[in-house]
Amino acid sequence: MDYLEIEGGKRLQGSIKISGAKNAALPVIAATLLCKGKTRLKNLPDVVDIRTLLKLLEMLGAKVGRGEDLVEIDNSDIVSTRAVYEIVSKMRASILVLGPLLGRFGVCEVSLPGGCAIGQRPIDLHLKALEAMGAHIEIKGGYIRAEAPEGLHGSRIIFDKITVGGTENVLMAASMAHGTTEIINAAREPEIIQLCEMLMSAGIEMEGVGSSRIKIHGSGGRALEFTKDISIIPDRIEAGTYLCAGAITYSQITLERVNIEHIQTTIDKLGVMGCDFEIKDDSITIFPADSLTEVNIVTAEYPGFPTDMQAQFMAVATLAQGESLIEERLFENRFMHVSELNRLGADIWLKGNVAAVKPVEKLYGADVMATDLRASSALVLAALAAEGTTRIRRIYHLDRGYDDLEGKLRRLNARVVRKKE
Ligand code: EPZ
Repeated sequence: MDYLEIEGGKRLQGSIKISGAKNAALPVIAATLLCKGKTRLKNLPDVVDIRTLLKLLEMLGAKVGRGEDLVEIDNSDIVSTRAVYEIVSKMRASILVLGPLLGRFGVCEVSLPGGCAIGQRPIDLHLKALEAMGAHIEIKGGYIRAEAPEGLHGSRIIFDKITVGGTENVLMAASMAHGTTEIINAAREPEIIQLCEMLMSAGIEMEGVGSSRIKIHGSGGRALEFTKDISIIPDRIEAGTYLCAGAITYSQITLERVNIEHIQTTIDKLGVMGCDFEIKDDSITIFPADSLTEVNIVTAEYPGFPTDMQAQFMAVATLAQGESLIEERLFENRFMHVSELNRLGADIWLKGNVAAVKPVEKLYGADVMATDLRASSALVLAALAAEGTTRIRRIYHLDRGYDDLEGKLRRLNARVVRKKE
C-alpha cells in the first residue's frame, strides 16, 4: 500500500493549474449513455473515480477513446444495462447510470451502492422520483431492478431533501421522458448547471436552470446527440483545498483555471481568517494572514458553505488564534479526520455534529491514516504545516479525487514523496 511522506513546516510558492471537476465529470460521463453515438469530453481530471466510471461504461459496451486532453465515448453499441457490484461498491457515484440507462433503454439493474465512511448515504429519493416518472423498481439481492417498458413520463418531483445525485439522475431520466418533469427543491451546484447545459446542447428544453425549480421537456424517448465538445468546469473543491494549503502554511501561491464564483464562500471564509486575495480573470493568488483568526462554519447546500471543504477548513482552524466552531449539516459522520488531526497535535472536541477547534501553537508530524477523500486532504494540509515528518496511509482515498496531488504540491515547493509500504 502506498503512503505519503511529507516534511512539514516549509513555505509553499509558485502556481498550479486546477483540473476539471470530478463531481461535474461523473454525471457528464453518465449522461453520454443518453446518446447512441459519440460524445467528446475535454478537461476530464485523471483521478480513480473517473477511471472507474469509464470502466463501468466499457463493461456496458461503450468504446472509450483517449487522446490529448480529450476522451471520446461511443455508446452506439451498449450491450448490457447491468452495473455490477464490483464496480458500484468501489464508487457510489456509479448510481448516476441509473437515470440514463432507464431513460434510454427502459430497463436496467444497478447494484445498491455500499456504505461510505461519511454516512449512510441512502438513495431513497432517487428511487422515489423515478417511480413517480413511471418506473417499476424492485430491490433484490443487493440490486436495484428498474423497468419502464413504455418509457418514463414527466412528473412533478418534490425532493424533501436537496440531493445532488438525485437531481442529476432525475435530470437525465427526464430528458428522455414523455412530457414535462418539474423538480422542486433541486440542487443548485455548478455541477448541476454543467449537466443541464450539456442536455440543453442536445436540444432538451429547460427552464429554471441554476434555481431550485427546474422544468425539463423530455425528448419522448428519442436518444440525444451531443455534437459539441463538452469541457468540464474547474474543480471548485480542489481549488479550495489548495487555497487552504496556502493559508495553513502562510504562503503566497497562485491557482490558475479556477471559476471564482464557484469558490466565493471559501474565499470569504479564508478572508475572515485574515487572508487576502488578488483575482485576475480565472486565476487567484492568496496572500496569507500574519496570524490566522478563528472562524465559524456551518455546511450547507450550494451556494452555502460546501461540506466538501469542511475537513480542509478544520485543518486550517487548528492553528487559528481562537476557538473555531464547525457544524456539519449534510452528513452524519463527516468528522473522521478529527482524531487523526488530534494525532498531529490539534485540540478538537466533538459534540454531536459540531466540532470545537481549540487553538494550539503548533502541529507535529506523526503517522496518520486517511479515511475518506476530503478527510485525507485535510491531513495533507495539516502535514504541510506540521513540524517534522508525517506519513499518511490509505492514500487511495486521495487518488479518487485529486489529480496529480504530489506533482502539484511539489510544484508549490512542498516536500512530499509517495512511498511503498
Ligand atoms: C454529492 O454526493 C457529491 N458527490 C459529494 O462529494 C458531496 O459531498 C455531496 O454531493 C453533497 O454536496 C458527487 O457529486 C459525486 P447528496 P451525493 O445526494 O449526490 C442525503 C466528494 O467528496 N440523501 O446531495 O451522494 C444524503 O445521505 C463527495 O467529492 C438522502 O437521504 O450527495 C446526504 O446526507 C463526497 N436520500 C444528503 O442527502 C437520497 O436519496 C446529501 O446527499 C439522497 C441523498
